[in-house]
Amino acid sequence: MKYYALFLLFGFVGYSVSEVIQFRNCDYPEGTKLNCTVHEVRVNPCAEASQEKPCRLQRGEDASIAFDYTADFEGSTLESRAYWASQVIDLPFVGMETNACAKTVCPVQPGQKQTYDIKIPIMKSYPARTYDVKWRMWNAQNQECCFIFAIKLQK
Ligand SMILES: *[C@@H]1O[C@H](CO)[C@@H](O)[C@H](O)[C@H]1NC(C)=O
Repeated sequence: MKYYALFLLFGFVGYSVSEVIQFRNCDYPEGTKLNCTVHEVRVNPCAEASQEKPCRLQRGEDASIAFDYTADFEGSTLESRAYWASQVIDLPFVGMETNACAKTVCPVQPGQKQTYDIKIPIMKSYPARTYDVKWRMWNAQNQECCFIFAIKLQK
């Protein structure tokens, strides 16, 4: 009985796991060759994932984001950055680690499936609303992996 209670506790309260979320590829001019396949994107926490709604993230807390990708390119130096995407301008996230090699295995080899994994602070100063987040990772030749997903920051 005790063990059952323990299971309930860890199963349903306060234990968050990474959830597979919906995403789309970045937009490019027609005829542009894509240089990277993004297989799966995971966010922690994201209780909304099963309803295919934007992940609700608490400002002042950390969020983990991971994605599996296969690049067509090589890269011994890689940069990565997240942006608040909009029609007008993509505003870079401040304070995140932009050396992607600290978050994935380098050098990146063409055709090899790999994972990138990062934890980022969601600042209290970010306005509470729904955003499109654009995630880019690129090599010295500007070949990139890029995808977009939605998050909702709450007060
Ligand atoms: C993919 O790489 C090629 C060759 O470097 C480049 O011309 C093209 O713009 C790249 N595509 C994207 C989407 O970055």
